[in-house]
Amino acid sequence: MLEHLKHPVFKTIANAAAELNFPTYVIGGHVRDCLLKRESKDLDIVCLGDGIKLAQKVADNLKGKPKVSVFKNFGTAMIKSGDWEIEFVGARKESYSRNSRKPEVESGTLEDDQNRRDFTINAMAISLNAEDYGSLVDPFNGVKDLKAGIIRTPLSPAETYSDDPLRMMRAIRFATQLNFEIEEASLEAIKQEKDRIKIISMERIKDELNKIILAEKPSLGFKLLFDTGLLQIFFPQMANLQGVEFRNGKGHKDNFYHTLEVLDNISENTDDLWLRWAAILHDIAKPPTKRFDPKVGWTFHGHEDRGARMVPKIFNQLKLPLDSKMKYVQKLVRLHLRPIALVKETVTDSAVRRLLFEAGDDVDDLMTLCAADITTKNERKQQRYTKNFKLVEEKLKEVEEKDRLRQWQPPISGDEIMEYFALPPSKEVGLIKTAIREAILDGDIQNNREEAWEKMLEVGENLGLQP
Ligand code: CTP
Repeated sequence: MLEHLKHPVFKTIANAAAELNFPTYVIGGHVRDCLLKRESKDLDIVCLGDGIKLAQKVADNLKGKPKVSVFKNFGTAMIKSGDWEIEFVGARKESYSRNSRKPEVESGTLEDDQNRRDFTINAMAISLNAEDYGSLVDPFNGVKDLKAGIIRTPLSPAETYSDDPLRMMRAIRFATQLNFEIEEASLEAIKQEKDRIKIISMERIKDELNKIILAEKPSLGFKLLFDTGLLQIFFPQMANLQGVEFRNGKGHKDNFYHTLEVLDNISENTDDLWLRWAAILHDIAKPPTKRFDPKVGWTFHGHEDRGARMVPKIFNQLKLPLDSKMKYVQKLVRLHLRPIALVKETVTDSAVRRLLFEAGDDVDDLMTLCAADITTKNERKQQRYTKNFKLVEEKLKEVEEKDRLRQWQPPISGDEIMEYFALPPSKEVGLIKTAIREAILDGDIQNNREEAWEKMLEVGENLGLQP
């Protein structure tokens, strides 16, 4: 493992540890990432001794003497040095989890400490001690599991998950990020213990969920969340999408698996978390809007509006931000049918203008979502949708070049209207502004000042206003 200890920071830590006579190891995620050849500047250091003391000694020996942040309750200390973030802890007998806030943790051997970590692939250590500097300490065959692609707990799954139930989410997160299998016994334990997730704060669950969503193929994680029953507990609205109902021999598509397909599709084209969230939520209101009409079969009328209205509650429930990110997701959910609906009619300029006006700068993301939403396996339909989609794309470009509606600014401001007609702020001002905007969107006038001015005069006259 010596090749992984080339950076001078390791020698600095090793020297400080030798001075204090604390046997010391690199442990956890960094070791895993080295073996996976993934870059990692997060270091977890475990020592047989006082981790805070070691951190202070290391900081003294580092260039620029970085500040040591001490977390007394956790018995840990952290140093930032360049891009590196180094965390120090004394080996302990009890669970290594960010959740255990016990001020007194019993110190233990390296093996005790490794026992209490979440997965075999996260429990490997590299020695920083003179006698065996650079050797790997891997009592649970983490290397073997890493090669085989298996998520396995060092102790019995029941024990490891009850130490910190968030690890159920972590198991699924690592399986998704690394495309690994969760060992059968572990998967069973998660199904058994799923209700224990309720004692974990939503913030911590959400952080893992977002990591799953940002993986290359997020559907892997959502399927595991569903199959273990975890999703039903913290995000029942999404779990409700699953299932197909038949009536008079007519079924509808399974909206859960459809949503996952859309999510995987969009993930090929964007790393943006919020666009991926829009994909997750685009059909979220299909269950509550589902109706059966004997003539046309299953319908989901209004699911886009109802879905948009569900977004704030879901963001609040999942502790996602209630700011412009939420508004953005809400807008995409509300508009997700619009581009495709356009082609069902003949694509009129005015319909395209209205879409541009409403979507604004998010119109490209809306089109990305719309393209990802085409999941039909029917070759003919697929070709037709794709062709129509291209048509809308071209039309959008053409109209935007001509009319510049993406960053809509009224060509005549409310102040100007008030000044011209000597009006106070009033209903009439709004009426004139709306009339101008509608005339532009309908294509009655061009999006420029002269034509808008004419329109203002005309509407003013109809309202009986004097200049
Ligand atoms: N750990 C644990 N149980 C937890 C959280 C963490 O046993 N609930 C241990 C694992 O040994 C893990 C290490 O603490 O490797 C560091 O945790 P963290 O920084 O949260 O995760 P990483 O494994 O480093 O992975 P990532 O950086 O992808 O989050």
